[in-house]
Amino acid sequence: LSRDSFPEGFVFGTAASAYQVEGMASKEGRGPSIWDVFVKVPGNIVNNATGEVSVDQYHRYKKSQAIRSSLVYGLSPCYVSLISASHESWDNSKDSKTICHSSCLQEDVDLMHKLNFDAYRFSISWSRIFPNGTGKVNRKGVAYYNRLIDSMLEKGITPYANLYHYDLPLALQEKYGGLLGDQVVKDFADYADFCFKTFGDRVKNWMTFNEPRVVAALGFDNGINPPNRCSKPFGNCTAGNSATEPYIAAHNLILSHAEAAKRYREKYQPKQKGRIGILLDFVWYEPLTRGKADNYAAQRARDFHVGWFLHPLVYGEYPRTMQEIVGERLPKFSKSDVKTVKNSFDFIGINQYTSYYMYDPDQPKPNVTGYQQDWNVGFAHERTGNPIGRRAYSPWLYEVPWGMYKAVTYIKERYGNPNVILAENGMDDPGNVTLPDALYDRERVNYYRSYLKELKRAMDDGANVTGYFAWSLLDNFEWLSGYSSRFGIVYVDFKTLKRYPKMSAHWFKQMLERKKH
Ligand code: FCB
Repeated sequence: LSRDSFPEGFVFGTAASAYQVEGMASKEGRGPSIWDVFVKVPGNIVNNATGEVSVDQYHRYKKSQAIRSSLVYGLSPCYVSLISASHESWDNSKDSKTICHSSCLQEDVDLMHKLNFDAYRFSISWSRIFPNGTGKVNRKGVAYYNRLIDSMLEKGITPYANLYHYDLPLALQEKYGGLLGDQVVKDFADYADFCFKTFGDRVKNWMTFNEPRVVAALGFDNGINPPNRCSKPFGNCTAGNSATEPYIAAHNLILSHAEAAKRYREKYQPKQKGRIGILLDFVWYEPLTRGKADNYAAQRARDFHVGWFLHPLVYGEYPRTMQEIVGERLPKFSKSDVKTVKNSFDFIGINQYTSYYMYDPDQPKPNVTGYQQDWNVGFAHERTGNPIGRRAYSPWLYEVPWGMYKAVTYIKERYGNPNVILAENGMDDPGNVTLPDALYDRERVNYYRSYLKELKRAMDDGANVTGYFAWSLLDNFEWLSGYSSRFGIVYVDFKTLKRYPKMSAHWFKQMLERKKH
């Protein structure tokens, strides 16, 4: 497998999100998000870890000897990397303490460049830009993202900016119940508008939301993620209504996405010439048997998973199965909603890690070993899952390369072959693996190689995929698991914050080498 196995111009990158890597969560004018309060409750996160420091991406700059990157926009990436080729290796200890204010280079961006990646999918923290969700802008936050974006351009790394990765400003949660309030549609679109206006001269690939299904299901059904709402006793979630709230939150997410996309297309796209999409997680559901009931169970699961969002975006309505099962509890799109929602994307980002067998829970329990209830999708209608393949460290993550082929092909066939980026893919090791063992991540190399082969197979069969992003460049704050799960292709010593490329990083570097013709 090499870069040349993929079409000319195919983009390879890594992905991350603001709260997971930035650090400085309560500093430099950033307002709290719903995650900042959640992580402070003892017992919510493994070892009570927080993203306060994380891997400190906010700080990792050093003065650039190259001319100000703003002067080089428009020059070929080749020239840009030539003039900045003089950067020697990093001395983290000194640089990490100071904030570089003008022409600076970001260490992790430099590393991406050294590993031959083309792009970086990062997220903008809403409450770093608007500490209260709306109103007053935090100029330091704006300056931070300008520095990050400028560093990318200086190194020929294409920015892919995502506007929301789980981190709703706390102020909006308190003001009107966050995603349950209609007001969020306008507030999100205003925030998005500000980002398009401020960063859109350089950012040409925009994404509105990461994994809205996770937001709706884990925040409002089982309530294991903030804002922890549920109506069934589950952990320490608070009074909510699982029968309706996941659907209301999801509906508002769809309308917020569509409104932001509309603003982009009307006000900015004609001049800025970028594109906009959304990021959907897609677990592949394979029927356990060929029986009709299992087939229906799997189809239903796909509809409640990726179809929940993709169906409205492509067809202007929720999938039939959802309409039938959820009935009156499913919000409706008005005629004018349909106009904004339908086709409100230029591309779809798919996060694909794993697959499960599905079978009809009304049938007698099948005689297979390893049967277990699928722990994070058990709402709204009955679904049961049976894991396939080798488990990574996270209990939800089983290695199923052919699921990648099926998921991508399914999107092609059911949704009219939209432009897709494979926006996340990867596997984790336990947090306590230490150096040097952590660096010999053979399994991760196998994982990436076999999933990429399956992605290529789907593309050879006609799927319109234009990019691939590994999750993640660095070990980082893995939500509920804190630092007990490591997804990086680069190991981070969480005490010194030093970065050590693993074998998988070297594998990518080699795979992505450009052949000199
Ligand atoms: C995805 C999330 C990402 C990370 C990976 C492992 O669901 O988008 O932030 O947690 O899983």
